[in-house]
Amino acid sequence: MPEIKTVLVTGSNGQLGQSLKKIASQYPQYEISFATRSDIDLSDCIAQFFQGKQFDLIINCAAYTAVDKAESEAELADQINHLAVQQLAEIAKQQHAKLIHISTDYVFNGQQCRPYIEMDDVEPQGIYGLTKLKGEQAVSKIMADNALIIRTSWVYSEFGNNFVKTMLRLASDRDSLSVIFDQVGTPTYATDLAKTIMTIIQNEAFQQEFSSDIVHYSNEGVCSWYDFAKTIFELSGIECDVSPIETKDYPTPATRPHYSLLNKAKIKQDFDVVIPYWKDSLQQCLKALQEEVK
Ligand SMILES: NC(=O)c1ccc[n+]([C@@H]2O[C@H](COP(=O)([O-])OP(=O)(O)OC[C@H]3O[C@@H](n4cnc5c(N)ncnc54)[C@H](OP(=O)(O)O)[C@@H]3O)[C@@H](O)[C@H]2O)c1
Repeated sequence: MPEIKTVLVTGSNGQLGQSLKKIASQYPQYEISFATRSDIDLSDCIAQFFQGKQFDLIINCAAYTAVDKAESEAELADQINHLAVQQLAEIAKQQHAKLIHISTDYVFNGQQCRPYIEMDDVEPQGIYGLTKLKGEQAVSKIMADNALIIRTSWVYSEFGNNFVKTMLRLASDRDSLSVIFDQVGTPTYATDLAKTIMTIIQNEAFQQEFSSDIVHYSNEGVCSWYDFAKTIFELSGIECDVSPIETKDYPTPATRPHYSLLNKAKIKQDFDVVIPYWKDSLQQCLKALQEEVK
């Protein structure tokens, strides 16, 4: 297998894409091309972009991530999260490139009481989860080898829109908030996931031919959205009263899993990944956000 040198990152304006961009200069051994939606639109024919371009690795960070909106835009969500992913996998296979594709805890039904392992039964509860599952299945069907699917959960960062930034914004003009306490999971700081991807691609096992596989990644620990909100305010020194509410008191178009914990034993064992505790990573993100406003 030739050495990995040229890397394409899709969805480079998203949280994970921008986090990869932020750390890219630490990995000068790779020539990383960052493609935005205007370079490669997954709702359109993507083959044209690849004409005359060859990559050793494609990291697909692009996705239709509007979980609630997906319920009324099922066709578009399917195009981006499934059909375009199928095409990307076909192109990767033709180019003898490796593929890292990002997926989600929303492929599970969230009714389990122990952290989900990669082999657990899938049963998405909404259109977003369903289209992401079909994307996973397309990758596995087309690429028996050299594709790695990383399922992650509750992604936040200093970039784009996410729970942390929403809580900080809401607290700037309210002194109390109600947040759901009966959905539990683990937040994932996108910078940690980006670093993990770079760790994986430098791992010898990844550089060889390998059978395509799925691994789980989030930060360490467990919390509810309520705990997450409380911790954001505690670590930021913001006084905002947070009340716990049940999912039924905050109806949304898409059903979300009540239990989203991912078991990360496999990624740690296969790729020597060291995973930070979620509160430590949250502190890092809050620091980065504070530095932005200085
Ligand atoms: N966010 C979460 O909580 C979460 C949880 C579990 C798994 N994931 C998965 O993690 C991955 C990264 O998520 P993220 O949080 O970084 O998502 P994000 O911030 O929403 O970024 C998604 C990126 O996809 C791009 N995109 C959307 N439609 C496109 C299209 N038609 N053509 C090309 N690009 C398109 C967006 O482009 P624009 O910038 O132009 O809109 C954006 O840059 C995704 O696979 C997601 O499903 C996310």
